[in-house]
Amino acid sequence: MKSTLTYLAALAVVTTAAFGDGAALYQACVQCHGAQGEKVAPGGNSKVINTLSKDAIVAAVKGYQAGTYGGKTKALMAAPVKELDDAQIREIADYIGQ
Ligand code: HEC
Repeated sequence: MKSTLTYLAALAVVTTAAFGDGAALYQACVQCHGAQGEKVAPGGNSKVINTLSKDAIVAAVKGYQAGTYGGKTKALMAAPVKELDDAQIREIADYIGQ
């Protein structure tokens, strides 16, 4: 039993590493956009982000940061993207975008 648990713990570490930073960073988005970016966010007016191109996601996130993009519920996007730098935004987009 103990060896099984050790094996599972090791597997979890390997799996997390294999997904890379994009997957880890995307965890901050799961609550509103779904585990695979498959949900419409709360408020009902966001696009389903896993259907967007990587470039469209980068542009939208930077727009939310700058206050130049968004609809009636854009205030919900301010906090989750506030601390992301350009490289991190690109990693998230590569992970979830088309
Ligand atoms: C608290 C809920 C919440 C979290 C957390 C969140 N979002 Fe959003 N997101 C929204 C809402 C609501 C919208 C639509 C806002 C609007 O423009 O009216 C949106 C819109 C977007 C859009 C644009 C979709 C479109 O309609 O053009 C992208 C891209 C996006 N989010 C990416 C992310 C990423 C990446 C993260 C994680 C770093 C994230 N979101 C975290 C709620 C959230």
